[in-house]
Amino acid sequence: MTAQLRRRPDGALELRVNGVFVMDDAETESERLLARVVLGLGAREVLVGGLGLGFTLRELLDGGAERVVVAEIEPALVTWLSDGTVPGGPALLADERSHVVIGDVREIVAAQPPGSLDAIVLDVDNGPDFLVYEQNAGVYEEDFVATCAARLRPEGHLCVWSMADSPGVRNVLAASFHEVEAYEVPVRLQERRESYWVLRGSRPR
Ligand SMILES: C[S@@+](CC[C@H](N)C(=O)[O-])C[C@H]1O[C@@H](n2cnc3c(N)ncnc32)[C@H](O)[C@@H]1O
Repeated sequence: MTAQLRRRPDGALELRVNGVFVMDDAETESERLLARVVLGLGAREVLVGGLGLGFTLRELLDGGAERVVVAEIEPALVTWLSDGTVPGGPALLADERSHVVIGDVREIVAAQPPGSLDAIVLDVDNGPDFLVYEQNAGVYEEDFVATCAARLRPEGHLCVWSMADSPGVRNVLAASFHEVEAYEVPVRLQERRESYWVLRGSRPR
């Protein structure tokens, strides 16, 4: 996998992997909503997969998170934030509440102590039907979602970013979580209006 960062003619910073568009810094509402959903439910210790351009992490820190573990599989992303290629990146990574770990989110979640997190936020791929990384299929499957649930405190929350609403992801969340909710996020992608989705599962009270 090769991650590439480029400045578009319209001035936006764009992240691609193997030539496939992943995200830009022009439309970040859904990345930031991931953070606001869990902060609004009281989460203060959060694990985020992946770092990307850092918008979810920034929203968590600005919103009062006390500890944020970030799992990122591409070392280049961490370099681009820490050397300032991504504006504002150095301050995000230097924040003493940020703990960036390079590796696969599945291994990094599994390594967390049981019941140690208020929330897990997954934005590593586009959802099960639009994978950029084929090996991320397991992120949306019941085994891994159950592993996430076990790392959460009794009132914990798992949020999953998805390019489309996904009955499959809703069902997988329902297998491990008492409450499942979907948030539609209207977005403008250059000239097109579309929607992205945030799917949330919350453990029983
Ligand atoms: C869409 S971006 C995340 C955007 C981020 N929420 C933000 O606010 O900028 C997806 C990120 O997940 C990373 N990634 C992909 N698969 C991963 C995995 N299995 N484990 C950890 N990180 C992964 C990618 O390298 C990329 O940085």
